[in-house]
Amino acid sequence: MSAAPESSPLFTPYRLKGLALPNRFVMPAMQRGMCAAGSPKPELAAYYRRRAEGGVKLIVGESAAIDHETATRQPTSAWITHATRDAWAHCVDEVGKAGGHMLIQLWHEGAVRKDDGLSISPSGYVQPGKANGRAATLDEIAELIEAYTRSALIAQDAGAAGVEVHAAHGYFLDQFLWAGINHRDDGYGGADIAQRARFPAEIVASIRAACGPDFVISLRFSQWKEVDYAARVAGTPDELAVFAGMMKQAGVDVLHASTRRFWEPEWDGDRRNLAGWTRALGGLPVITVGSVGLDTDVMTTFIEGRDAKPRVAEAVEDLEARIAAHEFDLVAVGRALIGDPDFVKKLEARDYGAIRLFTRADLGALEWDTDVIHEAHA
Ligand SMILES: Cc1cc2nc3c(=O)[nH]c(=O)nc-3n(C[C@H](O)[C@H](O)[C@H](O)COP(=O)(O)O)c2cc1C
Repeated sequence: MSAAPESSPLFTPYRLKGLALPNRFVMPAMQRGMCAAGSPKPELAAYYRRRAEGGVKLIVGESAAIDHETATRQPTSAWITHATRDAWAHCVDEVGKAGGHMLIQLWHEGAVRKDDGLSISPSGYVQPGKANGRAATLDEIAELIEAYTRSALIAQDAGAAGVEVHAAHGYFLDQFLWAGINHRDDGYGGADIAQRARFPAEIVASIRAACGPDFVISLRFSQWKEVDYAARVAGTPDELAVFAGMMKQAGVDVLHASTRRFWEPEWDGDRRNLAGWTRALGGLPVITVGSVGLDTDVMTTFIEGRDAKPRVAEAVEDLEARIAAHEFDLVAVGRALIGDPDFVKKLEARDYGAIRLFTRADLGALEWDTDVIHEAHA
């Protein structure tokens, strides 16, 4: 075992706005079922702190439902409301004691919510041809911009360094981005990516205006959806450029381009992944993610329940080359950090054999209603 050479790009410092990070690692949002009545339990705060102690200094808290009754019906999910503010402040404090910073992820399920009268989406579809719930009204869109902003202000008051707007994986804001299910003709949908991106952009602009210039705003997006891995938000680099440009203009600081496997090229004839293209076209810092340290992707874990094998040395070499080539700035590590809180420290020491491998059993029994997603794969 030998220490990583000082020149390892993964272990060079990075400044994200006011946040001085000692390395390039981020823990992405992951629901863990450690909340009661929407509030993170002390064990969730301890879990985050333990990861910060293990070397990852930017932690995105698990998706937190925004302050609106339509946001989620999941029983064990977090919320970010006045009632849960103190519990989030405890998480931020614990992470801070280990020298880390927290972003709180702002989330709304949209049509992934099983229809109970409160399942809303752009046009009442969860995937092409599959109706669920109803279309959000223009009044609701205005109300929801306020709800996202209110929750961002609560996150700021709880001491979070910023928020991450969740517009990925087929949830509410991603449903707006996805042409396959956003058929609105009121300026918030249709064939034009600029119209589909308008709602997320208005949310970001409102958060920026309310929370001020120093508050970090990340926006997470993806091409793939939990209900459709082949779906696309941006069919071409030109569409991606329009989307990224709008997010920058609205006040986003960092784009978190979510993929299932970070090493897969986004478009033929070029090795760059979605994050790489986004950085080149959008002019903003980017976070990459997807199967770092593991040979199977997160949906294989969820849907097939198959355990991963380690894939570490190859990933490190690839990530180092891509950071050196400025394809991306930061690297999010999900399941590998659930499996081993010291994953980053062990990478730095190049002690790969000591890494404790993530298994599905680490997730425990998630009380999470995934009927809508499972039905899509049946
Ligand atoms: C248990 C679990 C819960 C997750 N919850 C969220 C979430 O709340 N918000 C989100 O954006 N992604 C969520 N994800 C996706 C992860 O943030 C990440 O993108 C994904 O696991 C891929 O990274 P990995 O391959 O390193 O695990 C979750 C993943 C797991 C394993």
